[in-house]
Amino acid sequence: MKVRPYDAHVLLCGGGDCKKRGSKEVRKVLKAELRAAGLNRDVRVDSVDCLGFCKHGPNAVVYGPNGHGGTWYLGLDEGKVPEVVSAHLKEGRPAGHLAAEYRPRKGAS
Ligand code: FES
Repeated sequence: MKVRPYDAHVLLCGGGDCKKRGSKEVRKVLKAELRAAGLNRDVRVDSVDCLGFCKHGPNAVVYGPNGHGGTWYLGLDEGKVPEVVSAHLKEGRPAGHLAAEYRPRKGAS
């Protein structure tokens, strides 16, 4: 079995709490924006079960493009998706003001 490479991968939460908060609509807009930007073959979108930040949903983690590690977007809505697509997935720079901040790991110096 072979899989083809993708430039980026979006893991969109399809868990119960995110669904209640509109993750299906976010997915629809995301797919439409990717098609409009000509990225639908380069960016893979998968729905995953709970990502563990339920009360902040709808949530997603984006990997890539250009080797970017996981960028978390919490509280996505249809209005924020176009910027995630244009800035992060098209231009390759995470939409910083929409992305969740990282706190240092416990015990890290
Ligand atoms: S249901 Fe989406 S993070 Fe838990």
